[in-house]
Amino acid sequence: MRKHRIAAIPGDGIGKEVVAAGVEALSALAALDGGFTLEFEHFDWGSDYYKRTGTMMPADGLEQLKPFDAIYFGSVGAPDLPDHITLWGLRLAICQPFDQYANVRPTRILNGIESPLRNAGVGDLDWVIVRENTEGEYAGQGGRSHRGHPEEVATEVAIFTRAGVRRIMRFAFRTAQSRPRKFLTVVTKSNAQRNGLVMWDEIAAEVALEFPDVTWDKMLVDAMTVRMTMKPRSLDTIVATNLHADILSDLAAALAGSMGIAPTANLNPERQFPSMFEPIHGSAFDITGMGIANPIGTFWSGQMMLEHLGEQAAADRLMRAIEKVAADKGLHTPDLGGSARTADVTAGLIAAL
Ligand code: IPM
Ligand code: MG
Repeated sequence: MRKHRIAAIPGDGIGKEVVAAGVEALSALAALDGGFTLEFEHFDWGSDYYKRTGTMMPADGLEQLKPFDAIYFGSVGAPDLPDHITLWGLRLAICQPFDQYANVRPTRILNGIESPLRNAGVGDLDWVIVRENTEGEYAGQGGRSHRGHPEEVATEVAIFTRAGVRRIMRFAFRTAQSRPRKFLTVVTKSNAQRNGLVMWDEIAAEVALEFPDVTWDKMLVDAMTVRMTMKPRSLDTIVATNLHADILSDLAAALAGSMGIAPTANLNPERQFPSMFEPIHGSAFDITGMGIANPIGTFWSGQMMLEHLGEQAAADRLMRAIEKVAADKGLHTPDLGGSARTADVTAGLIAAL
């Protein structure tokens, strides 16, 4: 029997509700499969923990996480704490040290889900966004001087390293190569950002030579929002910097019908550290505790986690169940225009499994 140890970090807000749903669904799936077990250990880190202890996670938090095979994460952020404290104290504090440099965000319009794009349905939008996840605009470089004075100055420095860009570019080309269309779009803003992103373009061209069977093109990020909206079929795999891909992936999720559906994998492809799987939505204070959060993004993130753990058959079974649930309007939560509750969708998913 294969055994996978998972660290569950529900975090804040609806993260607690959707991770509970995800753990329930994945445990049911493992029991049905019979070939593997998932052993979840829960960590109560996040904003409540911060209010008790003054930190988002314990000083040895990373040491505690290291032995796990994967991390199943909810969301982070509380209305009464500054976002940069909560984010840098937990989520970003895991991505960087665990070198989870490849953030993968698949987007599809699922059968039964309505896209806000006129005439767009199943198959018209089928993308994988590959986001650089450890440097760029999220490198954490910068500072503030002369605080509060009229001459106060703040810098926010984006860092692009040749090694960092090359490895995300190779990952993106490999991802594109693994998909039927073998097509990659490289997004930058190299007309205005004339240093780091010109290097990004150059490295893309170099890496492309290693993948002669992959076709690729380039887009500036502003024009990319137009192409995603007006010509969604013209895209397949997309690679972009940390911040650009953050923005584009919210747009992608909205175009596919709801932020509640979109999943993410924060991968350390070399497997020196555990990778982390989470829905792309945030903690959503406005609906926290109401039992109406959409758990599909968390289920789908669980599907990506199973793939990473090598449980492909179970991952496929889970994806078919997700598609079945999405197609059932009676199981749509309010973000999809329905009135189902998190518990209904979870029960529906387990029945579909
Ligand atoms: C995301 C989120 C995060 C990000 C926040 C919560 C730090 O928006 O996963 O897309 O910007 O990386
Ligand atoms: Mg985001």
